[in-house]
Amino acid sequence: MGKPVNNRVMLRRRPEGLPKKTDFEWRTEGVPRPGDGQVLLRNIYLSLDPAIRGWMSPAENSYQPPIEIGEVMRGVTVGRVEETNNANFAVGDYVMGLNGWEQYSISNGQGFISKIPPHLDLPLSNFLGVLGTTGLTAYFGLLEIGGPKKGETVLVSAAAGAVGSIVGQIAQIKGCKTVGIAGGKEKCERLKTVFGFDETIDYKASGSIEEKIRSSCPAGIDIYFDNVGGEILDGALNCLADGARVVMCGAISTYNDETPTTGPSNLWQLLVHNARMEGFIVSKFVSEFPNAISQLGRWVSEGRLQHCEEFVDGLENAPDAFLRLFDGSHSGKLIVNLGRL
Ligand SMILES: NC(=O)c1ccc[n+]([C@@H]2O[C@H](COP(=O)([O-])OP(=O)(O)OC[C@H]3O[C@@H](n4cnc5c(N)ncnc54)[C@H](OP(=O)(O)O)[C@@H]3O)[C@@H](O)[C@H]2O)c1
Repeated sequence: MGKPVNNRVMLRRRPEGLPKKTDFEWRTEGVPRPGDGQVLLRNIYLSLDPAIRGWMSPAENSYQPPIEIGEVMRGVTVGRVEETNNANFAVGDYVMGLNGWEQYSISNGQGFISKIPPHLDLPLSNFLGVLGTTGLTAYFGLLEIGGPKKGETVLVSAAAGAVGSIVGQIAQIKGCKTVGIAGGKEKCERLKTVFGFDETIDYKASGSIEEKIRSSCPAGIDIYFDNVGGEILDGALNCLADGARVVMCGAISTYNDETPTTGPSNLWQLLVHNARMEGFIVSKFVSEFPNAISQLGRWVSEGRLQHCEEFVDGLENAPDAFLRLFDGSHSGKLIVNLGRL
């Protein structure tokens, strides 16, 4: 066996619109050595998330600095500690944290990195999906920002996706009526049969999205969990119930826009309905992650939370796989498999 190397995917140039393969660059380097206070991680799984598209653009009042040109692509990974100069981490610990599209990462053990609790006997990849930032986004966005009450109507966009599918199921656990929006017949079918949504809306089928929302939510929307922004947000704002909460989780329909998007035309509906719209970044709740992971893990073990992971083998396939987030051709949480456990 040859000496191990560190294959990495770098940002070659800033994308214009939808990213292209040529915006990325492949690089092979030696495996880095950890310095004082640092650990060397061997990455096992890499999470592909829509937010990475934002980090590829120049900084514009964002919550993360942009990835610099020539820098490694940023992403959340699950990895194993291979070497350590940090007393908080031992060789053999498995951790989840914000690292890079690379086989080996150096971490100083601070910021967004946490040990994977060994007592939760669930696959490591789950810590990027249902037990990772994806599940935690659904959990805190719905429960803390949305505040669901039994009998309320919860509308979710990108509902067949990684976050949306979990939002719908937690809403059901809380006794709400759930309506999921997804693209295409097949995804809408899965919303009902796999994730148990009460009603579905195919936003790609012909007809007005607002009319479809109105007919699925005749008493109005109590919580709209917004993953997409754009036209669907406009339609939902026109169908709010009194006291509604709009949870602003993401705006994927706008991430590849080359010119600034004009905002919703009807924000005044919030005042008409004494409603509230609130955005959040999941890291706001970092101190509460351990309890939330335990709760999500219990729901998974009890069979109350279904989740779907799609694996792509090999770091070299990460750029192509990343683009699938924007055409919806993946199912559930999209994860790149980087190698042996
Ligand atoms: N606030 C936070 O802390 C936080 C954390 C994680 C994720 N997020 C956000 O949550 C959202 C969902 O992320 P995810 O990881 O769960 O991704 P995902 O839902 O697994 O994948 C994205 C989905 O978005 C849908 N989509 C893509 N373009 C669209 C468009 N133009 N109009 C409507 N739908 C479109 C596609 O589904 P269809 O096939 O149904 O079109 C696609 O499958 C994203 O906006 C992401 O940025 C926020």
